[in-house]
Order: sequence, then structure tokens, then C-alpha cells
Amino acid sequence: MQDIPAVMIIFGGSGDLAHRKLYPALFNLYEQGLLHAHFAVIATARRPWSHAFLQEQVADAIHEVNPEVDEEHLTAFASHFYYQSHDVTKVDHYVTLKNLAAKLDQKYHAQGNHVFYMAMAPRFFGTIATHINDQRLTSTGFNRIVVEKPFGRSLETAEELNRQITACFEESQIFRIDHYLGKEMIQNILPLRFANPLMRQAWNHEQIANIQVTLAERLGVEARGGYYETAGALRDMVQNHIFQIVTLLAMPEPTDPSANAVHQAKQTLLASLQLPTPEQVSQHFIRGQYAASDRTFAYRNEPNVAPDSTTETYVAGQIKFTAGPLAEVPIYFRTGKALKEKMSRVDVVFKPVKSFYGEATANYLTIEFDPKNCLTLSLNGKQIKGPGLRQEQFTYALSDYETSIVPDGYERLLHDVFVNNSVNFTHWAELKRYWEFIDAIESAWQAENATGEPAIAQYPPYHYGPHSSRKIFATTDMKWIYG
Ligand SMILES: NC(=O)c1ccc[n+]([C@@H]2O[C@H](COP(=O)([O-])OP(=O)(O)OC[C@H]3O[C@@H](n4cnc5c(N)ncnc54)[C@H](OP(=O)(O)O)[C@@H]3O)[C@@H](O)[C@H]2O)c1
Repeated sequence: MQDIPAVMIIFGGSGDLAHRKLYPALFNLYEQGLLHAHFAVIATARRPWSHAFLQEQVADAIHEVNPEVDEEHLTAFASHFYYQSHDVTKVDHYVTLKNLAAKLDQKYHAQGNHVFYMAMAPRFFGTIATHINDQRLTSTGFNRIVVEKPFGRSLETAEELNRQITACFEESQIFRIDHYLGKEMIQNILPLRFANPLMRQAWNHEQIANIQVTLAERLGVEARGGYYETAGALRDMVQNHIFQIVTLLAMPEPTDPSANAVHQAKQTLLASLQLPTPEQVSQHFIRGQYAASDRTFAYRNEPNVAPDSTTETYVAGQIKFTAGPLAEVPIYFRTGKALKEKMSRVDVVFKPVKSFYGEATANYLTIEFDPKNCLTLSLNGKQIKGPGLRQEQFTYALSDYETSIVPDGYERLLHDVFVNNSVNFTHWAELKRYWEFIDAIESAWQAENATGEPAIAQYPPYHYGPHSSRKIFATTDMKWIYG
């Protein structure tokens, strides 16, 4: 791998994301030689750390995921890290930051290349982008900016944030990160669909009855009630992760694997996204909040949550496109907190066939991507004893060895930022469409809230969510494959 020269500036360098994800990912890229002699990282946050203390923190972060690490390599790696105490709201701090970046650029021969990473609460993204622009922090080489989720909380706020970022960066320099797009089985969707004759033939509205996407979490909101109250499951999970997965499942075949071609195919699909009317929202979308268990609080009793909160911790609904391979095929989704187990999966349900055996059970293909990485195909076969058919399941799971070499999503995506490949990042045109869909639902829900009788189901924690989620299916004989 090449040794890409760059100075990376991380806003939020003392935070959880930097510690748990970014530092270990950067270390792995360093070990692979993608970043080596010519890179430096400036971590910024308000607390008064020294360079040496940051370097200890970086080393701790690597030890936590890799206790067997080569200590010499780790010390060499950590020596590339510099700390700048910086309040992102204070203009003069950007001047100090700019000077340090220029000094490190010289020291490491980083060729004027800058990567900015916004690893902070989203309310600061616009402020940081504006100051980067006003204080001219961009440099003479490549300038790229990585923006964490959520990117806005409505179309209007996303547009405002995008305006602030594009004042300084072109679309091709903006990497809106969604770590689901770095997951092994998510990256496997396009090869699975397009490189297998079996799947290519069957992946269309004539053969597929529906698709079900489940992103279930076992944990409740924990200490993040304050943030969650401003988001809810729809904005927190559907606007980004679920839409990214759905787009990969339903898009037409890109002309080639390049970022441009893939984004073009996604945008072609999204032009035909059906935005739900308020009637369709009440018919096809279910929201819920987890109730108390004997050991845990109900959502409304969690710290920093309003006792009459209408924020949903669960949402189920459907997405449909009028064009593309899956035109008019319902794509059902659900996501929620305090559910039975952590489980991220896609179930593709094929239409059943009638044969001389009568109507056989539908085949389905399951793609599990968290916590396991596996594919399961269900097929019909003969009963071993007696007449009739039975359903058989064929599972392909990554071996322990394969699992051990799968890079973390952040490592993959940071790699792509350095090599300038935006294929697994969200283009503004896509994000805009996702927000249009989310806004349509939010506005129907707000109107319903205003009546004083919002339909928010209280579901028992650690099960499969509200019973009413079955209501979203087009016919009564349809059901969730999982749960
Ligand atoms: N954590 C994850 O696993 C994860 C996963 C996916 C996405 N994300 C996204 O990543 C972003 C960061 O999340 P996080 O969990 O790392 O948050 P966090 O642990 O709360 O870290 C926030 C960081 O911002 C700094 N900060 C706060 N106010 C500041 C200010 N005025 N000026 C300068 N620095 C300031 C904090 O340090 P000081 O207090 O010292 O200033 C800290 O370094 C969020 O957008 C989140 O949605 C996180």
C-alpha cells in the first residue's frame, strides 16, 4: 500500500468514537503502510491534555482492542499524534490550529493534504465548517472532510448544514459517513445480487414478494436520553442505515463499480421513491416506546426524557419504489431499542410457486450482518419419510478465521477517505431524498401528536416490539420472517 501523506484533524479527539473506533482504525492503516512516515494527527477537544497524554490515550485505545500489539510499532505510531486544546466555538482557536497544522505539514512532508473529521455532537458540525471556511484552514493539497451522522434532523436543517460545508468543500471532498456501509455483509449485497446468475434472475418484482429489514438493539437509550429525545428511531436509524441498506437492495445495476456509477444508480432508484401521504403513514407505519421491566425503566422514565415524550424508540414501516428491479415491492423495515436481542438482518421473501405438489412455502434468503455474518437460503425438498415437502435451510457463515480478518467498518471507510473513494459514503442527492421521506412521516406524526392522542404503542422490553407492527403488511397472511 502507498504511504499517503496527510495531516488529519479530528474534532472531538477525546471522545468515545475517536477512542474506540478512529484510533484503532488508524493504527491498522498504519500497520498496512497506507499511512506511515508522512502523516500526523491533531486531536482537538476542550480538555487540557498534553501531546504526551493524548499519545497515552491512543496507546490505551489500541491495547483495548489488541493486547498483543507490537509495542515498538505502537510507540512509533502514537508519536504522530498531537493534541490541541480547542473550543470549536472560539474563532481564535482555529488560528492556533491552522499554525500547528502548517508546522506538522512541514515536519512530515504531508504535501498540504488535510483530512478533517467531525467526531463531535452534530450541533457543532455547521459551526466547525463555517470556521474552517472563514479561517481558511484548508491547505494546498487535497482537502477532505468526514461528517458523522446525523447530517441534520430534517431536510431544512440538512440543507443548511450542507450549505455551510459546501462553502468550503466540493461534493467530491465531502465524506458523509455511515458505518453500516463498512460492514462485510452490507458490502456483499452488490456482488451477491449482480455476480450470481441465480440471484440476477430472481431479483425482481416478478419473483420477490417483499423484503424485510430488521435492525434490533438489545440496549435502551442508556445515558443518551437527552440526545435521543431530539432524534427518535426514525431519524436515528431509518434516515441513514436502513435507507442505505434498502438502496443497495433495490437499485438497478450500476454500469461499473466506481463511486460515480454506484451513486448514479442509487439516484436513479431514489427518483422513484414513493413519499407516504398522512393516510399511508397511519396505515403503514407503527411507532412505539419501550415500557418498564422489573429491572429497567420505561423510556419515559429514563434520565433526561420527558414523562409525556412522544419520541419513538421503535418504528416499523414500508418503503416502495415505482421503478427499478423491485418496483412496487414492499420493503418492510423495523428498528428499535430494548428488543429481544441485537440483530441486524435482511430477509428477502420470494413469491411461492404452485406446482404438482400444490403451493410450496416461499423461499427466502436471509443476510445477517450483526452480530453474525452469514447468509441463509431456504429451499423446499422432499420429506425424508412420507409424502410432501419440507423446508431446508442452507447457511454460509464466515469461519472464525475469516471473521478475524474482516476489517472494522471504520477502518474500511477511513481507508476509502485516504484513497479518495466515496463509493461507500452518502451523496448529498441521496441524503436529500431520504430526508424528504422522513419529513413526510414526521409531519404526519406531528399532526397526530397535536390531536393529543398519538398512536404510540408501549411495548414490553426484550421481545420483538409492538404486536401492532404486523399491521403494516399488505395482506394478513404475511408476517415477519424473524421473530
Ligand atoms: N461513539 C460511537 O460509537 C459513535 C458511532 C457512530 C457515530 N457516532 C457519532 O460520532 C460523533 C461523536 O460521538 P462520540 O460518541 O464520540 O461523542 P462524545 O464521546 O460525547 O465526544 C464528544 C467530543 O466532543 C468534544 N467537545 C464537546 N464540546 C466541544 C467544544 N465546544 N469544543 C471542542 N470540543 C468539544 C468532547 O471533548 P471535551 O469535552 O474535552 O471538549 C469530546 O471529545 C457523533 O456525531 C455521533 O453521532 C458515534
